[in-house]
Amino acid sequence: SQMATMESLISLVNRIQRACTILGDYGGDSGGAAAASLPTLWESLPSVAVVGGQSSGKSSVLESIVGRDFLPRGSGIVTRRPLVLQLHKTEPGITEYAEFLHKQRERFTDFDMCLISQPAPDSLSVYIVTMVRKEIQEETDKIIGKSKQISPVPIHMSIYSPNEGQPESIVKDIESMVRLYVEKPNCIILAITPANQDIATSDAIKLAREVDPEGERTFGVLTKLDLMDKGTNAQDVLEGRAYPLQHPWVGIVNRSQADINKNVDMIAARQREHEFFSSSPDYGHLASRMGSEYLAKLLSKHLESVIKTRIPGITSLINRSIDELESELDHLGRPVAIDAGAQLYTILELCRAFDRVFKEHLDGGRPGGDR
Ligand code: GDP
Ligand code: NA
Ligand code: MG
Repeated sequence: SQMATMESLISLVNRIQRACTILGDYGGDSGGAAAASLPTLWESLPSVAVVGGQSSGKSSVLESIVGRDFLPRGSGIVTRRPLVLQLHKTEPGITEYAEFLHKQRERFTDFDMCLISQPAPDSLSVYIVTMVRKEIQEETDKIIGKSKQISPVPIHMSIYSPNEGQPESIVKDIESMVRLYVEKPNCIILAITPANQDIATSDAIKLAREVDPEGERTFGVLTKLDLMDKGTNAQDVLEGRAYPLQHPWVGIVNRSQADINKNVDMIAARQREHEFFSSSPDYGHLASRMGSEYLAKLLSKHLESVIKTRIPGITSLINRSIDELESELDHLGRPVAIDAGAQLYTILELCRAFDRVFKEHLDGGRPGGDR
């Protein structure tokens, strides 16, 4: 069925993404020809970034999306560990370094080391979400190794620097890296904006406007609607007048801190959110287009259509990669016992599988399909 095909496509997108990571891990010059087109392949695969200022509701939104079937049935999404960043001032003369909570004895001064954990600047946390199916996790582990397992548990990173308040080099590096992700046309931006603050100054909207001025890949998410002052409402935003985007704004009511303290579960929270909108004099007429569940569906549909439109481009890239990988393997000589050869071979197999499923999808699925 179409649904099954879409699931295998998503699974393969994930595997290719992991494969590209491995190839990146090789280091720049050893990859030869294949390394040239695989990063391009990576860039054409869809990703989702949840962007927003401190306490805007990023974790809550992500949780409610991850906590349900966001993608077609059977597939789960897992974040590549959200990052909580802290800045510490040290004595003058000390070189900036980063430290992770889970690796307290190790100091990272080579910024490239942090790439795996998808860092974010201090004032703006960004979660990079990749689609990963539970079913392939084991296989991924085999390829990637347990040490890089994906998880929704935050990574705590501290930056120690003698320069207080200044945008130190490492922070600038982090900022430009976040930009690298959200600038890519394949990155879908969830711009999380709290309704109880001045929306005009929303960090998320500012960043989204910069990198996606047409609003083609930005989803505006208005959180904390329940915390707005009495007598005010966000109709202007939610009805698309105040900050128009190509996609409709979605209003959200997440669990409050009190709810979290009282262990209100996700199901109860979603029920309350639903009631909030349907009984609201301000938002009742929008109720069917509001809430976490609707946001999840909207995103899922969008991701599917993105994957479908990228199929021809990805297919040709895959074919190029296959050619390059094959000639590289020939160059190494077969059979290859060394690690590099084995990994290239695995990637080659993934590319072939990718190509196969894409072809099936193209043959079997009608564009703009009827599922
Ligand atoms: P993050 O820092 O952007 O990840 O924000 P969190 O998701 O951690 O939320 C920060 C705080 O705001 C938490 O105490 C949440 O319970 C609370 N919160 C988030 N969204 C909402 C909302 O829609 N309504 C209410 N009342 N509280 C919210
Ligand atoms: Na924000
Ligand atoms: Mg958070």
